[in-house]
Amino acid sequence: MNKEEIKKQVRKRYSRTAATGSSCCGTAACGCGQSGPDTRQVSQKVGYELEDLAAVPADSNLGLGCGNPAGLAELKPGETVLDLGSGPGLDCFLASRRVGPEGRVIGVDMTPEMLDRARATARQNKYSNVEFRLGEIENLPVADRSVDVIISNCVINLSPDKPRVFKEAFRVLKDGGRLIVSDLVLTRTLPENLSKSKELYAACVAGAVLKDDYIKMIREAGFKEVKVIDEKLFPAELIMDLKKVPQVSRQLKITEASLVEALNSVISVTFRAVK
Ligand SMILES: C[S@@+](CC[C@H](N)C(=O)[O-])C[C@H]1O[C@@H](n2cnc3c(N)ncnc32)[C@H](O)[C@@H]1O
Repeated sequence: MNKEEIKKQVRKRYSRTAATGSSCCGTAACGCGQSGPDTRQVSQKVGYELEDLAAVPADSNLGLGCGNPAGLAELKPGETVLDLGSGPGLDCFLASRRVGPEGRVIGVDMTPEMLDRARATARQNKYSNVEFRLGEIENLPVADRSVDVIISNCVINLSPDKPRVFKEAFRVLKDGGRLIVSDLVLTRTLPENLSKSKELYAACVAGAVLKDDYIKMIREAGFKEVKVIDEKLFPAELIMDLKKVPQVSRQLKITEASLVEALNSVISVTFRAVK
């Protein structure tokens, strides 16, 4: 798939998720979002506190994250925060509470249906310091040196041009600004047939890169003090319905054992870096 085909596929997947709140392979997280009580459980598993989840609109949580970047960003009142790939807006609404009325939160997403959903939630719940902009994280619709903090949750793995995303993040951050990104990365390379799968790309796996390569990209964009501030194995059942392992392994022409090994090589890491 070329870069445009990847984006088309990803947008199609998330437009469906935004509209229905539930789709595809059964469980939630990264592309297979579902609403309802399980969504909160999924979010708790990836690092959210129940009291934070209870304090923001339920419609903003489709169980699509893999960490809690807004919770780890040490946000202060008055700061301007940018969320890359804001989806239904969960992290924007959490950030909004932390930066307060003097602060601002901007969510950017390339899927119009996600923006519609996030904007409707903001309107209905009277969030006056949050706005959602349509755009690609490789070409941010944001001015140079205009934000204090960038957060992102389970999105950059979906970009076909990750180095460019980090360069754009560097451009829009003020000097001394910080980047707090939760994402899925790999502990070992994936079997070739799996890395070509469109479905597993949109499910945040096939586009994931090795942890060390991810850190290298952040550094090469100009960031300093790049650190891992949280790391955990990402439960395989949040990537795909494990009952489908035999079927998916047949489709991918790999053994069941190598599919399971690949799913177990996916970890969720939160990185912190400074401009
Ligand atoms: C796995 S979801 C995560 C959503 C949100 N961060 C959350 O945790 O609920 C990925 C989101 O990133 C958006 N996205 C993926 N690639 C993008 C890109 N290149 N530019 C802008 N948005 C993108 C998708 O439209 C989708 O809303």
